[in-house]
Amino acid sequence: MHAVVLVGGFGTRLRPLTEQIPKPMLPVGHVPMIVRLIQRLGRGGVTDVVLALGFKPEPFHAAFPDDRCGDVNVTYAVEPEPLDTAGAIRFAADAAGIDSTFVVANGDVMTDLDVAVLVEAHREAGADATIHLTGVDDPSAFGVVDLVDAVGRAGRVDQFVEKPAPGTEPSNLINAGTYVFEPGVLDLIPAGERASIERDTFPKLVAAGSMYGLATDDYWIDAGVPDLYRAANLDLLGEDRVHDGCEAIAPDAQVDPGATVMNTIVGPGAVVEAGTTVVDTVVLPGAFIGARAQVESSLVMGRVEADATVIEAIIGADGVVAEGDHVAYDAVPSPA
Ligand code: GDD
Ligand code: MG
Repeated sequence: MHAVVLVGGFGTRLRPLTEQIPKPMLPVGHVPMIVRLIQRLGRGGVTDVVLALGFKPEPFHAAFPDDRCGDVNVTYAVEPEPLDTAGAIRFAADAAGIDSTFVVANGDVMTDLDVAVLVEAHREAGADATIHLTGVDDPSAFGVVDLVDAVGRAGRVDQFVEKPAPGTEPSNLINAGTYVFEPGVLDLIPAGERASIERDTFPKLVAAGSMYGLATDDYWIDAGVPDLYRAANLDLLGEDRVHDGCEAIAPDAQVDPGATVMNTIVGPGAVVEAGTTVVDTVVLPGAFIGARAQVESSLVMGRVEADATVIEAIIGADGVVAEGDHVAYDAVPSPA
């Protein structure tokens, strides 16, 4: 089975981290999130993945030098200009010659969903499109559905609203960003034009009565915003993930024995000096945390010099927190 994985967004909400590295190539537990995602699709029966890219294909080529990720074949469809989610799916599916039931996944979703279960529910319902759903407390930042008439495990989607105003959501069940489509869905998307799967295509499928949703309670997170990107990493240190996990400290990181490092991931090549306290943080590959610095609930790719304090902050690859400085609830450098 083929899958189109959408990886062409600009990752603006994760700036400045995404100024050097595209969002799907950012590590989650030392492994690029796109690799964890493709491995999971492979476990669910996907054999061929097309990466739908809007820009910057080079870092992806480097990650998959043999055009393979484990047993999964990886190809690329680079849009001449970003075509938005539906335009990108159409472009990538045409490039890969997709003509049978296929999977689509948002590239920033970390989940334990078994995609084979979604495919089964799709077939039971006889749907044209079946989307994975999850329940959240605040649905307004997502696509939100109203479900009626269960057919097998799935329910028919009666309404799909992308990012509704808070208080107007029809339910707390949201689009979890993994879909199973019949190839006919591609006919609803104009070729070579910008179009949104959420705003343009899903409403058409809902109107036709052929869109279904399967809610599961699998682990799920959209790692595309800072707090959740951090959580996606730190959750790998716990017991909640079915297939994924990681060591807190990469083997070639240099963490001084006199550093206090708690609930934190330290990536390869990173340095954490003596007397530091680092808590609830992701220290990305190659980052530096100088002696006696205090770092809490942050994402650090650049340098935190000695005696600095960093709280709920994002330090990009070019970011430097000077010796003794305090940074809280901020990004360094400020996103352009
Ligand atoms: N190739 C390509 N081209 N990919 C794109 C483009 C484009 O023009 N625009 C966005 N993408 C990719 C992003 O890289 C991401 O993997 C995916 O499409 C979804 O875009 P996001 O920017 O992450 O959307 P979101 O998180 O606000 O909302 C989406 O995901 C939610 C679940 O995580 C929607 O699908 C919501 O309905 C959903 O609830
Ligand atoms: Mg997202």
